[in-house]
Amino acid sequence: MRSHYCGELREEHIGEDVTLMGWVHRRRDHGGVIFLDVRDREGISQVVFDPDREESFKLADSVRSEFVIELRGTVRARPDGTLNKDMSTGGIEVLGKELIILNKAETPPFQLDDHQQVGEDVRLRHRYIDLRRPEIQNKLRFRSKVTSALRTYLDGHGFLDIETPILTRATPEGARDYLVPSRTHEGSFFALPQSPQLFKQLLMVSGFDRYYQIAKCFRDEDLRADRQPEFTQVDIEASFMNEEEIMGMAEEMIRGVFQNLMNVDLGEFPRMPYAEAMRRFGSDKPDLRISMELVDVADLMATVDFKVFAGPAKDPKGRVAALKVPGGAVLTRKQIDDYTKFVSIYGARGLAWIKVNALEDGVEGLQSPIVKFLGEDVSLQIMQRLGAKNGDIVFFGADSAKIVSEAIGALRIKVAEDLGLIEREWAPLWVVDFPMFEETGKGGLTALHHPFTAPSCSVDELKSSPETALSRAYDMVLNGTELGGGSIRIHDQAMQKVVFKILGIEDEEAQEKFGFLLNALKYGAPPHGGLAFGLDRLVMLMTGSDSIREVIAFPKTQSASCMLTDAPGEVSAAQLHELNIRLRKTP
Ligand code: AMO
Ligand code: AMP
Repeated sequence: MRSHYCGELREEHIGEDVTLMGWVHRRRDHGGVIFLDVRDREGISQVVFDPDREESFKLADSVRSEFVIELRGTVRARPDGTLNKDMSTGGIEVLGKELIILNKAETPPFQLDDHQQVGEDVRLRHRYIDLRRPEIQNKLRFRSKVTSALRTYLDGHGFLDIETPILTRATPEGARDYLVPSRTHEGSFFALPQSPQLFKQLLMVSGFDRYYQIAKCFRDEDLRADRQPEFTQVDIEASFMNEEEIMGMAEEMIRGVFQNLMNVDLGEFPRMPYAEAMRRFGSDKPDLRISMELVDVADLMATVDFKVFAGPAKDPKGRVAALKVPGGAVLTRKQIDDYTKFVSIYGARGLAWIKVNALEDGVEGLQSPIVKFLGEDVSLQIMQRLGAKNGDIVFFGADSAKIVSEAIGALRIKVAEDLGLIEREWAPLWVVDFPMFEETGKGGLTALHHPFTAPSCSVDELKSSPETALSRAYDMVLNGTELGGGSIRIHDQAMQKVVFKILGIEDEEAQEKFGFLLNALKYGAPPHGGLAFGLDRLVMLMTGSDSIREVIAFPKTQSASCMLTDAPGEVSAAQLHELNIRLRKTP
């Protein structure tokens, strides 16, 4: 067994005999002396072999990168002039006396230090090697600390860790299900849970009062940097608590984790109604590190002789919004064209702009392709409303409210990143007062959170105007990422049936899909609510990573496959037969 980890050795160990085990990180031959950098999960120590000890010297000469070795030696101070201040072990080295090769290694597909020179596919295919990189090791160790801190908080507040099934029925969280065919029930399928939502509610009906689980969730949806098909939630539910109490506790937990693990004080989280977030930031997860805001100008544009703007300005479902970028007049034509392309991803059909060169010259001081359409009065009124200054640029979006909010909301973040307009390191908030439903685009309504979320109005009010009803849902947002979300649930069977009906789920279908929940609500369901955090996203933000893939040991690719195991894979005809599945031949 080792006496110390390589990365643990310090000046205080000088003179001690140590046994180390690890990987050869690098081997250098310095005129008759061999240096091995030996690495384990705690770090790297330099080990020196000199020719006096012939046997171990010869072995040391023969090892190559990533060989696994065991060695005994004595810690000594590094000679003057060879100290390495960048290494925690840089004040010492180990004089190697005995060396055992525990396992050889072929030349790895990439050197750990050169990982950037190979594509992500190569690294994911050999993820076990990629995971040796100290940077990723540190992230996964940090993740372990985060889960431990979260568990400590929840255990300390009376939450019970209870597991819920993976083979289950569909839970509607808005994504496509992963299905698993049943062998014993021909033609029937399990669904992997999109979240433990219904089970945690049933646990409340059972009287467990406070539940949590670090739960795997599965969603077959389009992937992005902050989405994986298989991800982890810190899932929480409590009975007899209202939204204030649940949000208060969740906020205290997250604040505590940041304080304890990073020494960051997030302060008290502000609250913002959904409608305000959409209006001011064009997003239901506003990034408050950036102070730029969307400003509505439809009232000024309604009368202009420019259909592109006047149309949406007069349409109740339209929106015309302006975004003032301080100092943005430096943007080149090419950059503006690139931003125009960027907003087109969100469906925007153009991106009008006004550069403010010299306000003192009135409309003459404005440079823009649209001022001629807007006229002098409107142009200057807009400048006034925005408080524009020389050197600014103002962008405009005109379209349906949805497209404008999404496009200009995303532009706000993109421009802020490009021009260095991110003003704070951390900006948490709660978004509250969500609508119960949103339009599906096919004339129907869909639940904005999920169908078990309680409205903040009565059954009658909900029935008479579902479109405007608000819910008792809340989202925790950090730096423009939705970190977690939840709600107070419906605990009344009649209310649940009304919500299903509004969603177009008729009684029969509701009974077939969610009968077990509706039944449970009949037998003494307490008022309850909860929320779930995306653990991967939390760790991604805390470690400053660009993607949740960097904080997941074995992530899937953009196309939802595992390069390492080559999953999903084909199965044998016999297995398919056993499952009563016949594949449709694609022509
Ligand atoms: P929701 O669907 O908002 O709520 O999910 C909760 C949190 O999980 C994270 N998340 C994801 N992380 C990575 N990849 C994904 N594909 C992914 N999808 C979601 C997000 C999100 O905030 N049952 C409810 C919670 C509740 O009401 O208690 C639910 O699942 O950080
Ligand atoms: P056009 O007259 O179509 O060349 O448009 C004049 C300017 O308005 C150009 O800068 C376009 O990018 C911009 N524009 C066109 N459609 C929209 C729109 N829906 N929202 C915002 N700007 C637009």
